[in-house]
Amino acid sequence: MISVRVAPSVPSSVTAIDRPVFSDKLAALPAKLQSLAALQGFDGKEGQTLVVTAGNGQSIEVLVGLGAKDKLTVNSFRLGAAAYSKVVAKHENVATNLFKAKSRLNAEKVLAAIVEGVQLARYEFWAHKSEASKSVATKVAVVTSYDSAKKVVKRATKIVEAVNLARDLGNEPGGTLLPVEFVKRAEAVAEANDLKVTVWDQKRIVKEKLGGLLAVNQGSEHEARFLTLAYKPAKPVASIALVGKGITFDSGGLSIKSSQGMMTMKIDMGGGAAVLAAMSALKAVDAPVAVTGYIPLTDNMTGGAAIRPGDVFIARNGKSVEVLNTDAEGRLVMADALSIAAETKPDAIIDVATLTGASAVAVGGKFVAVMGSAQDVVDRILSAGDDVDENMWQLPLPKEYRSELDSPVADLKNIGSGRYAGASVAGLFLQEFTDGLPWAHLDLGLAAFSESASPLGPKGATGLAVRTIIETLASWK
Ligand code: BES
Ligand code: MN
Ligand code: ZN
Repeated sequence: MISVRVAPSVPSSVTAIDRPVFSDKLAALPAKLQSLAALQGFDGKEGQTLVVTAGNGQSIEVLVGLGAKDKLTVNSFRLGAAAYSKVVAKHENVATNLFKAKSRLNAEKVLAAIVEGVQLARYEFWAHKSEASKSVATKVAVVTSYDSAKKVVKRATKIVEAVNLARDLGNEPGGTLLPVEFVKRAEAVAEANDLKVTVWDQKRIVKEKLGGLLAVNQGSEHEARFLTLAYKPAKPVASIALVGKGITFDSGGLSIKSSQGMMTMKIDMGGGAAVLAAMSALKAVDAPVAVTGYIPLTDNMTGGAAIRPGDVFIARNGKSVEVLNTDAEGRLVMADALSIAAETKPDAIIDVATLTGASAVAVGGKFVAVMGSAQDVVDRILSAGDDVDENMWQLPLPKEYRSELDSPVADLKNIGSGRYAGASVAGLFLQEFTDGLPWAHLDLGLAAFSESASPLGPKGATGLAVRTIIETLASWK
């Protein structure tokens, strides 16, 4: 737990303060600190820290590395703040001088990055531990007299809360975060953030002919849900549809996964969580666009009625699909949700999904694969990702591979013929349901769930892409 406030000078009550250090300006440190840094191997690298004084035994000073001054970026501050916040985890009251080192960088962005860094790094998922969290509620004062500091802190804190909401949902076990539970939580989020919610139950889903969602749900003991969220500012400059994959657990179905492959599949609603989370912040960031979020929810299980490889279903848009691999289920539920979104003719559709392992083969676990039918929409995502320092990597959607999805018995089959370009082939499948509208697709792949701790968070759900989506929508012109 950690909270941030603004202070014009270092409050006397703090028990920790930091000192920003540039790796190429170590000589500017007082001589004592220079020799201590040398002895301890501290050289001011980005995100490096060193506790240098015990003071009177009641307070500490922490050197925080920001890297070389001429290579300083907004992200240097995010990483520095994150590292500092972990060092002071046992302190109740601390202050940070990092903002003062912002140099010529954009003040608002640096301040937001500091706020994000200190808070994101201290995320914990404690819901299923028998003892309450023993972590200290640290209050951080960012030392600055910058005019709009309070506003910036408030906005950044809301964005952090959104990321942590996506993390909470992603970390929640598949056995507890069933579709009805996801809906329950979404309703609470919507209520608190002025979003309109609509929930379709199983009966309505049948009536609405969501064939893909129903096909995946066949093997489950639990009902599916289809969730719609809406945000509308007074004078929207555009209408955007967000679509998020909500597979609450992916066993693979009859094309069952290995035990290793299944281990983290509670994250398979990460796209849906990102949509809900991003939407929770739209009012706070005053997004100028009308946004409708669509989240198809079911688990992918192996019950006796489960869809079989070779079975054919009819999707919402009337296309027939031969299911040759029941583990390629994400694209089936996304197909219907994309169709529903396209029916309302939005100016752009953006979808987010833990769609393929192949995207991770292509871009690794620290990047989100981005593709789409409209380069301007893709560019908005890439540029927003750049702005908030989330790694996005565009992959092509080559029409040369479209024929891999041709089926001998139906309009489409749900897997490609070969083992290559799997993320793009999945993208091409989704494109069939976008009705030619401007569309971008984010495949979270392995980026949604981290197998080890990172500078901005512990092992587990990362909440990656939430900040990018918020920025994309907030900056829409
Ligand atoms: N949810 C998985 C993709 C995934 C795997 C996301 C690992 C994150 C980490 C998806 O439903 C899936 O199983 N995809 C298959 C598709 C294949 C059968 C064409 C895959 O990637 O193996
Ligand atoms: Mn799957
Ligand atoms: Zn899946």
